[in-house]
Amino acid sequence: MPLTSSLRLASSLFEASFASRPTAGASAPGRVNLLGEHTDYNGGPVLPFALPRRTVVLAGPGEGWEAVSTLDGAVVRFEPAAAPEGRWTDFLGGVIRVLHGLRAAPPGGRLAVASTVPAGAGLASSAALSVAAARALSQLAGRRLSREALVEVAFHAEHDVVGVECGRMDQMISAHGVARHAMLIETADGSTTQIPFDQPVLLFETGVAHRLADGEYNRRRAECRAALEACRVAGLAVEDLAAVPEPALDSLRGAMPAVLHRRLTHVVRETARTRAAAMALSIRDYARFGAFLAEGHRSIRDDFESSCGEADRLVESALRHGAWGARLTGAGWGGTVLVMAPAEQCAALTAAIVADFRREVGRTPAVWKARASGGVRSERAR
Ligand code: GLA
Repeated sequence: MPLTSSLRLASSLFEASFASRPTAGASAPGRVNLLGEHTDYNGGPVLPFALPRRTVVLAGPGEGWEAVSTLDGAVVRFEPAAAPEGRWTDFLGGVIRVLHGLRAAPPGGRLAVASTVPAGAGLASSAALSVAAARALSQLAGRRLSREALVEVAFHAEHDVVGVECGRMDQMISAHGVARHAMLIETADGSTTQIPFDQPVLLFETGVAHRLADGEYNRRRAECRAALEACRVAGLAVEDLAAVPEPALDSLRGAMPAVLHRRLTHVVRETARTRAAAMALSIRDYARFGAFLAEGHRSIRDDFESSCGEADRLVESALRHGAWGARLTGAGWGGTVLVMAPAEQCAALTAAIVADFRREVGRTPAVWKARASGGVRSERAR
């Protein structure tokens, strides 16, 4: 669905629900992470691009807080100061609390949300919602926050208030994405490089939804912290796991339980791989880039153990049918597989992968094509 229809939907939902017109609005995209998985909270690089699919948030003044989404059309009252309830409005409450601390929150408000970013598909729908809400609500309070400030608001809303111990990748790309570019982010120092990227990417949804607050994600973070501690006890003076030199991996084997060593191996190799892949992408060597994607998938499957059977099947099928590369993107344990292939092969490849998945898994996966698009922007109600 094009953005104009999301905007129109959100506008008419706002008017129908609140009998008034919104006075502020913004939209922000979901993302695909090309490579660099579970490195953003370990001081390593990530390489995401912003999706053309976006979340629109329209806002108007109100007493107390009310929100409605095109998903179910029901007006929900919520209290930002209350504990998270496992609902989508938790993210809005988180954003409002963080904005409040910056004196950039309105005293109350009404919000209408429309989105084309699928939820639970590993495409950062929560960052799209939080970044768009941060822009719309700060505007409603008469403030204009920089993109950097929006990233911090959305990050703290999700991390501190909702309780997912995420890194900053999703919020950064949702705020700073540039059309026809992927963004290399070095999370140790926050530096970014925009890399021209105008290839179409095929996205296959596994249909297995993940919920990050459910535990596996935070467990991996704890494992990474424990692995870092073991590296330090073994005498390595490093700030982050990503800074462990690759040649040290062998000698660290005895320094920690095997499972922690596998997590460490993933982070260290993924760090090197992501930087090498960014180089390949910048010279448009897609065959080489694709080989890094496939390696990255094996690493999350075997060492980080954050894949799932459906994703492994999609990746194997894509490679078998001649894709440059394929991997599960996002946090994992479900979500979406990205596939890169020469443009003229995309149609035949899609048909072959869908046929394999139907035969092997017994379902038809949702498939779509995306190109790198722009980050957060203000929107006017239609
Ligand atoms: C989620 C988090 C990100 C990142 C990825 C895994 O999307 O929000 O910060 O850690 O998982 O790479």
